[in-house]
Amino acid sequence: MNMKYIKNSKDIKYMRNVCKLASEVLDYISNFIKIGVTTNELDLLCYNYIINVQKAIPGPLNYFPPGYKFPFPKSICTSINDVVCHGIPDNKFLKNGDILNIDITVKKNNYFGDSSRMFVVGETTLNAKFLIKIAYECMWAGISKVKDNVYLNDIGNAIQMHAEKYNFSIVKEFCGHGIGKKFHEFPQILNYNNFKSSEKIYSGMIFTIEPMINEGSRFIYETSNGWTIKTKDKSLSAQWEHTILVTDFGFEVLTISNNYFFL
Ligand code: MF3
Ligand code: CO
Ligand code: CO
Repeated sequence: MNMKYIKNSKDIKYMRNVCKLASEVLDYISNFIKIGVTTNELDLLCYNYIINVQKAIPGPLNYFPPGYKFPFPKSICTSINDVVCHGIPDNKFLKNGDILNIDITVKKNNYFGDSSRMFVVGETTLNAKFLIKIAYECMWAGISKVKDNVYLNDIGNAIQMHAEKYNFSIVKEFCGHGIGKKFHEFPQILNYNNFKSSEKIYSGMIFTIEPMINEGSRFIYETSNGWTIKTKDKSLSAQWEHTILVTDFGFEVLTISNNYFFL
């Protein structure tokens, strides 16, 4: 095992704190998601809340990892309908029936917390609601495997099995990630079974679980802004994300909110 993935008690204290902030931004912004609102408005609301109320920093703003052509220009990711991830807020209005992922990353005291939820604008189709529900169950199928000394692959396998049971597909190009003083660090948490991996997870590791589930095929493309990813077949995509601490007997979901429950 690689000791550098294991957080100490100070790390864990700060991670509990910043992850709670991420969940509170999601609670806050959920009240503003309505027909006719633009994603730029949601972005500005989150920016102001994170900066002025939380005295923290939005993780995505100007984030510029290796391999990307531009820094991410906004404070949150807003991924609508066939957008798989990394949607950039803009001046388009939310419309009735849209499904929307809002992905919030907060940085405070040099630690990052990362979480996303799905939202429905107005009323949507039964198919869209079903996709959102199964994506949520996939995330929890992964989370429920987390425990000291279990195979990392058990997480991805559980996610893949659940999605495929309903004939949905898993996006393979993106995955969960270790998180702490860096936004994205090792290990990678794949959302499918990688038979070649014999890696294990250990108490004190912190990582995200964030499966992306498509209604149609798993294939995607990168749009011209250099960030936004869409489904190739224009089918809907859904994603949920939590940041998780591995414990001796299971897991602690650091981005849980006391004020939110998805049914
Ligand atoms: N929050 C995303 C994740 O879950 C990463 C977004 S990177 C950004 O890993 F730059 F697009 F914000
Ligand atoms: Co993440
Ligand atoms: Co995220």
